[in-house]
Amino acid sequence: MAKENATHGTEPDATRARKTAQFADQSVITGPGGEVHQTAGGDTPVLTTQQGIPVADDQNSLKIGARGPTALEDFHFREKIFHFDHERIPERVVHARGFGAHGYFENYGSLADITKADLFQRAGETTPAFVRFSTVAGNKGSADLARDVRGFAVKLYTKEGNWDLVGNNIPVFFIQDAIKFPDFVHAVKQEPDRGFPQAQTAHDNFWDFISLTPESMHMIMWIMSDRTIPRSFCFMEGFGVHTFRLVNAEGKSTFVKFHWKPKLGLQSVVWNEAVKINGADPDFHRRDLWNAIQTGDYPEWELGLQLFDEEFAAQFPFDVLDATKIIPEEDVPIRRVGRLVLDRCVDNFFAETEQVAFCTQNIVPGIDFTNDPLLQGRNFSYLDTQLKRLGGPNFTHIPVNAPKCPFHHFQQDGHMAMVNPKGRVNYEPNSWNNGAGGPRESPEKGFHSYPAAEEGSKLRIRSESFADHYSQARQFYISQTENEQQHIADALTFELSKVETPAIRTRVVSHLLNIDQHLAQHVAEGLRLKEMPRPADAAKPPQAHLQKSPALSIVRNGPPSFKGRKVGALVTDGVDIGILQALKAALEKEGALLEIVAPHVGGVEASDGSWFPAAQKVNGGPSVLYDAVALLPSADGTKGLLKEPTARDFVADAYAHLKFIGYSEAALPLFEKAGVSDGLDDGCIVLAGPDSCVEFIAKCRQLRFWTREAAMQHV
Ligand code: HEM
Repeated sequence: MAKENATHGTEPDATRARKTAQFADQSVITGPGGEVHQTAGGDTPVLTTQQGIPVADDQNSLKIGARGPTALEDFHFREKIFHFDHERIPERVVHARGFGAHGYFENYGSLADITKADLFQRAGETTPAFVRFSTVAGNKGSADLARDVRGFAVKLYTKEGNWDLVGNNIPVFFIQDAIKFPDFVHAVKQEPDRGFPQAQTAHDNFWDFISLTPESMHMIMWIMSDRTIPRSFCFMEGFGVHTFRLVNAEGKSTFVKFHWKPKLGLQSVVWNEAVKINGADPDFHRRDLWNAIQTGDYPEWELGLQLFDEEFAAQFPFDVLDATKIIPEEDVPIRRVGRLVLDRCVDNFFAETEQVAFCTQNIVPGIDFTNDPLLQGRNFSYLDTQLKRLGGPNFTHIPVNAPKCPFHHFQQDGHMAMVNPKGRVNYEPNSWNNGAGGPRESPEKGFHSYPAAEEGSKLRIRSESFADHYSQARQFYISQTENEQQHIADALTFELSKVETPAIRTRVVSHLLNIDQHLAQHVAEGLRLKEMPRPADAAKPPQAHLQKSPALSIVRNGPPSFKGRKVGALVTDGVDIGILQALKAALEKEGALLEIVAPHVGGVEASDGSWFPAAQKVNGGPSVLYDAVALLPSADGTKGLLKEPTARDFVADAYAHLKFIGYSEAALPLFEKAGVSDGLDDGCIVLAGPDSCVEFIAKCRQLRFWTREAAMQHV
């Protein structure tokens, strides 16, 4: 029998061989191979295995000799690698890339006349909330500024259970019946043979499906607009999309459409900016939300209700159960009933943002579904997918999903059961009394479905009332400003130019002809179609008389101020301290931020000898990251910047993206280098003193100098 090695092992020797090394500010202990060891002591706890066994060395696996094979008995190594191997769970089949935050909903006043939902009964009552924003098509690692719908999912932990309002930043959807959802998602995601494109609608499969799905035309107008490239989650609207019901204590039902209105107004980027932001900062949106919350600049939305009754629904020219239609705000005004504030970032992204499970079927007494066939299908899909994604039926035990009100039921066991019943009873009816019998149903407090009368033949059919596919698409288009209309045409041209099959391009144009002749013409010219197709046969003739709805334009619903926005100041050594401080003061007064971009991240020495650290080195801080820019180099500094291609891009892009540009006289050669010196317009403002900084910020409230766009196209 082999003799057990009776030495005291190699560990004490290895420990003895350690020495001290200095890495700039850090004094570290290194082992014989130069690896760094940091040990417990004082406030630093001892590292343990999952079983609680203290770990002596987390840098080296257990080996037979210093250069020998790894021993299978190394339980710490095996446990660590085993756990790591299983860190991933399936990503969401759609909306995989998301970002969540905690907050609360504050109710403005009693809505008892229209709903008995507990969260709407008392003025000032707050309800904890968790919100997850997402893109739809891309995988988890895709970039934030893909042209895509944004998910806007809100979980409200009410005193009568969780209510999930699982909405989007667009009030309509691509399809009318949930049975088409798998086809739609297959078509939009990467093509199955090649596995690309990632997070893009600009490919054949998507447009092929769309060109054969005329019901999607209204949604197409929205996704080709700048709505799908928002500047920030905080500057976009949210919508519950479907018609829901509110039900009061007397059982009276009122139809409702839910809206979230951002307090800071709407804002989007332009497409060329989006493309560049995705390279410069693929986490642009999540970083923006994280920073806003961390700096105490809590984003807010107001909850708006569009309320209407059966009578309105009957005379409305579209079916209120059709999720490809809106009810214009001008027809049914929005009643603002409360505010949503996001004031806390997650502690752990995986535990909260990844494991959160929103589900349209989570509603509370006082809120109810309608027969919208998309909503009915969703009510099955979310719970079903989460069983797989979260690995079992107990995902309601995960804190982010658990109700914050008392809950009692007899569901038990299953994978990872955390909240387990105590006692003998796990069924009812039972004859155990005096509280030992567990929970019982409550006809008074319990959820009652609204007793809508239903009858009819069993049919697999689409209602004729869903057949108007173009009228509201047209209404959306004509409600946009000229610049916004141009962006829709440009987006369609861009996307269809990526489509390799000419017949698909032409087919899409045949639908556009039913929306707006000019739009179709514009796109056809952009694609260089040799021949205009005839308009696609419409299931129902489009109604041309629908009025413009100004609420549908982003530009018409911009912010009243520059609050929450960011100016990037390109500076060098010798920057005029007076101007820099005046600009900073003007921005602070407005509630906006100044970020310094400089040749080196270490910073610059200003004209008075003071030091300003930079947030970005010029090649990592392109102007696309800012809402407006200021060019404040010294004359000497300008000479250096002229040799830096990214400084030229900083100016050229800011100009092309219609930004307001504040500048010092010393910066003028930069405009020349950027090729825009002939075009210095009213959007370019000389910053010569405190007054001009105030004037600059006042102009920035318009967010973009829109007239430049037409001038540039003219050139
Ligand atoms: C009005 C139409 C729709 C809207 C507004 C919408 C919205 C959303 C949102 C916001 C999410 C992400 C939730 C999160 O952040 O975790 C999501 C996920 C999802 N949606 Fe939808 N969706 C719609 C239609 C549908 C339809 C018709 C289906 C299927 C029949 C569906 C199936 C799913 C699935 C399976 C997920 C992933 C859920 C998870 O893994 O947790 N959606 N949807």
